[in-house]
Amino acid sequence: MAVKTIKDLDLAGKKVFTRVDFNVPRTEQGTVADDTKIRAALPTINYLLEQGAAVILASHLGRPKGKCVEELRLGAVAEKLQELLNVEVLKSFEVVGPETEALAQKLQPGQVMLLENVRFHPGEEKNDPQLAQAYAQLADLFVSDAFATAHRAHASNVGVAEYLPAAAGFLMQKEIENLTQTLHNAKKPVVAIVGGSKTADKIGVIKNFLKLADVILLGGGMANTFLKAKGYQLGKSLVEEDQVDNAAKIMQEAADLNVNLCLPEDVTVASAIDDTAGAETVAVDAIPAEKMALDIGPQTVSRYADLIAQAGTVIWNGPLGVFEVDAFAQGTIAIAKAVAEASAFSLIGGGDVVAAVEKAGVASQISHLSTGGGATLEFWEGKELPGIAVLKDKGED
Ligand code: 3PG
Repeated sequence: MAVKTIKDLDLAGKKVFTRVDFNVPRTEQGTVADDTKIRAALPTINYLLEQGAAVILASHLGRPKGKCVEELRLGAVAEKLQELLNVEVLKSFEVVGPETEALAQKLQPGQVMLLENVRFHPGEEKNDPQLAQAYAQLADLFVSDAFATAHRAHASNVGVAEYLPAAAGFLMQKEIENLTQTLHNAKKPVVAIVGGSKTADKIGVIKNFLKLADVILLGGGMANTFLKAKGYQLGKSLVEEDQVDNAAKIMQEAADLNVNLCLPEDVTVASAIDDTAGAETVAVDAIPAEKMALDIGPQTVSRYADLIAQAGTVIWNGPLGVFEVDAFAQGTIAIAKAVAEASAFSLIGGGDVVAAVEKAGVASQISHLSTGGGATLEFWEGKELPGIAVLKDKGED
């Protein structure tokens, strides 16, 4: 998808309203637990500064639903950004209003300011045009680097583009290019790995993968629903009864389209997530009535790894077990290593799998780790994301 990019803009002496996604995990003390998303925005911020622009940053953090929530203020994010950027970050304590306007007005080329959490404002998630105009009045240009928010039509990532010339930052551009390659120009065979707990959330993406993948490997809680549709007894495992018919239809469609849709053949079971001492591996036709499937087993890992080794492209969303618990993380970690070792172009999206890949110590061997969770999933479902569409529209003016 052709979007206008930051390199197309004349930036010298301009104020740039820059939407970033600093929705980072926090520690109990409120500090930044993982700064990956902040680091990912640095190339754009540094480029804007080098080109002589003044940078007005906007981000959300968490879901405060239109009101101020003290723990979700962006103070800790501003501190982390300042440390990484090595430039003073001027922080406003409000989203828009006299303090923000005064700071923005005084802002000089080479300076950086950060608004307060945009989701404190009730107009943000409603894409309120008045709020979008208030953002626009602070600046001359709009740059969006918040790919992870691109599936939301909010005032700071979509509405503001109505009032300012808009362009994609480097992160947004890289995400769009890599994801577009997996959808439209993927080297075959394409192996798609889909996991996670909720089947309902993944039906859309599996349907679209049926059109582009040669092999689909399922795991995680959602695979149980598919196993149920095949007639297996799942014991106490999570099964979404209302999705069993959908799962059966997808398997039929895969067979019709000659897509190799694979289900686990063995699983690690226990009586509960905290019953790590009781963990054991069983075949999927031998799951005890009082136990639940919590990870894929070693035979499944080995079959999946063989298919991954032959792939031209690997795309992956959703962990293959309860990876937060070491006893049930082994399948996801083994598959992460298999993806890392493969010569395929690999693209992984979703915070859970990215965390699993980091836990496996192979993040640097993955071609592209997307910063998007829901955004990546919707992109792979084939939907047009509003946060990208506004950049395209302006690019074609
Ligand atoms: C994310 O972390 O995926 C993005 O920041 C979007 O967050 P949201 O789901 O709260 O809109």
